[in-house]
Amino acid sequence: MAPTYTSFVVLGSGGSISPYIIDALSKEPDVKKLIVLSRSSSSSKPIPPSSSKAEFLQVDYDDHASLVNIFRTHGTEVIVSTLPNAAVNTQKKVALAAKEAGTVKLFFPTEYEVVTYGLGGKGEGWLSEKDEIDDFLKSIDLPSARIFNGILMRWILWLNGYDANGKINILKDRGDAPISLTAEEDIGEFIAYVSTHLPPSQLANARFRLEGERLTTKEFASRLGKPIEYVDAIPGDDSEIRNTVAAKCELGAGSTGYNHELKKDNDVTGPEGAGSGNRLWPGHVWRKIEDVLELDKI
Ligand SMILES: NC(=O)c1ccc[n+]([C@@H]2O[C@H](COP(=O)([O-])OP(=O)(O)OC[C@H]3O[C@@H](n4cnc5c(N)ncnc54)[C@H](OP(=O)(O)O)[C@@H]3O)[C@@H](O)[C@H]2O)c1
Repeated sequence: MAPTYTSFVVLGSGGSISPYIIDALSKEPDVKKLIVLSRSSSSSKPIPPSSSKAEFLQVDYDDHASLVNIFRTHGTEVIVSTLPNAAVNTQKKVALAAKEAGTVKLFFPTEYEVVTYGLGGKGEGWLSEKDEIDDFLKSIDLPSARIFNGILMRWILWLNGYDANGKINILKDRGDAPISLTAEEDIGEFIAYVSTHLPPSQLANARFRLEGERLTTKEFASRLGKPIEYVDAIPGDDSEIRNTVAAKCELGAGSTGYNHELKKDNDVTGPEGAGSGNRLWPGHVWRKIEDVLELDKI
């Protein structure tokens, strides 16, 4: 069967998730064209040799004509954004250029988080802004595909403030809510797999709820064999972000099945349940924390 899409552009070359997506797209045989857009001011590390399929282009996101030209020249069909929360609205400029180019069929806006669907207009900072980007894509009739993965496996220790005191810090009276954890590699490979194997109708305006593992913070500490500290606030730099995300997770919103309207998980067997996206990739073995974190070194 012919692959669904073969020409990809990734926005952003470094950070928490982009290198894994670039690597996975590079290794997917059905991906024939892979462009990575990087700002001219970028200080991101060069792409590793295993990602040799990727072509690295400098970009000015304010230069509409050059974005249109890139998408047309390379017949770009899929855009995968990995931009940070601070640049969430830059995606609108890219989307408008994609629309004008006329070749782009699917846009993965930057998510890679807890579920943000349903938070638009609710004033929840960058979490709301992510949902509002999806509304924008719909308003210009550019199909989107959103990835909800809960907490990235390489970020869970940071979220728990382990770097600050060598303990798994848990907000007082909490620690029992299940949280979805997903390996960065699995997310990249999932994007590569579904974009080349699923029909456009299953990709357009999809919400992919992934889950590599489902653990409470107490279970996570026990798996790692690390001590727990009950705290009023998660310690460490950027404590505010850690507390916001940790508090949400402890209320249940760390599960990729979470429904912000009902304030509880969707039916796990239904199309919007936790890990429902996993079912679209039959046979894939999802990584465990032991596959990703070097437990003997932490
Ligand atoms: N769930 C989790 O545990 C978790 C943890 C971390 C991040 N995330 C999510 O992952 C996504 C990416 O976050 P990140 O931490 O990887 O971001 P990041 O490292 O700050 O940025 C990713 C890439 O975007 C480009 N970029 C950075 N600032 C930009 C700007 N102002 N304008 C345009 N491009 C810019 C850079 O590429 P170039 O230098 O090549 O231009 C950078 O390498 C976000 O949606 C975030 O919410 C989730």
